[in-house]
Amino acid sequence: MIDLRSDTVTKPSLAMREAMHHAEVGDDVFGDDPTVNQLQRYAADLVGKEAAIFVPSGTMGNLAAILAHAGRGQELLLGDESHIYHYEAGGASALGGLVFHPIPTNAQGELDLAALNAAVRPAYDAHAAQAGLVCLENSHNRCGGTVLSLEYLAQVQQWASSQNLPVHMDGARVFNAAVALGVPASTITKHVDSVQFCLSKGLGAPIGSIVAGSGEFIKKVHRWRKMLGGGMRQVGVVAAAGMIALNEGRERLIDDHVNAKMLAEALSQLPQIELDLASVQTNIIVFGLRDSTFSPEQLVERLRQAGVLIVPFKGRLRAVTHVDVNREQCTEASSIIAEVLQSA
Ligand SMILES: Cc1ncc(COP(=O)(O)O)c(C=O)c1O
Repeated sequence: MIDLRSDTVTKPSLAMREAMHHAEVGDDVFGDDPTVNQLQRYAADLVGKEAAIFVPSGTMGNLAAILAHAGRGQELLLGDESHIYHYEAGGASALGGLVFHPIPTNAQGELDLAALNAAVRPAYDAHAAQAGLVCLENSHNRCGGTVLSLEYLAQVQQWASSQNLPVHMDGARVFNAAVALGVPASTITKHVDSVQFCLSKGLGAPIGSIVAGSGEFIKKVHRWRKMLGGGMRQVGVVAAAGMIALNEGRERLIDDHVNAKMLAEALSQLPQIELDLASVQTNIIVFGLRDSTFSPEQLVERLRQAGVLIVPFKGRLRAVTHVDVNREQCTEASSIIAEVLQSA
């Protein structure tokens, strides 16, 4: 099977398994796990923040960060296409009492500044919930892995600080964004108060995410992580794989981007496929079908039978490149997709 469903399907490398085997561990709830402490320090430095905390998943990282920034009855201004809005089970609302205030998202994954501004209701109005936090996503999953520009981030930062609003970045794939822009991740994250990024996506670790921000903020996230059940014990066995992911996975992401571009170019030449090459900026390819010979679900099933896994996505289809699919397999996948479409 050539598995292009997501960059979360990767298996830990041999180096990761060896590091896990040899990891020095301690009880991390006591702050005693040296491998976790090392990972947290290293991760904080990479994104230019004072402190960082290791959490089991991106969803928990985003939730703990949101709850540390804002509270019950406050509004969370977030993109109407964001992962937090669509795919995190409404946690900030269900568990934190925050009010989701979705803002229209453009094709690049940006939230319009005028719309953000209009979403902030006057403090004197007792009828209105008050904005408590802005969330951005970078790279943007539902927009097809698009990358926010540094200029846009600077504008949001300036506007948010004028409103006294913190900004959190769901940077599940922030290192993909950094590679696409050719800048260190800290050049991106300096524009936000906090960031969550996943070790378990393109970086290739089996488990885990990081939340980074100021020291005071991370203390609050630490409390929320405990409350959410994310305090883990000898979790250095997992953090050890995370260290390898950060050390060896970041630079390698460029291969996934090159493979995605190559696959996208091949697919865009098929008459049955509608694909905007400009939208392929990182490791995610989203494409549509020009005719109704196959529904996305039918094509997914036919491709599965032929040995390629992709997913239906917003009425279209999504393929994601990652460490466990090499260039030859991407070429093979494009040939299989062409054959299946031509067989109709
Ligand atoms: C943009 C984005 N944010 C957050 C998450 C959540 O991460 P996890 O699956 O580790 O909870 C994902 C997962 O795919 C994601 O794509």
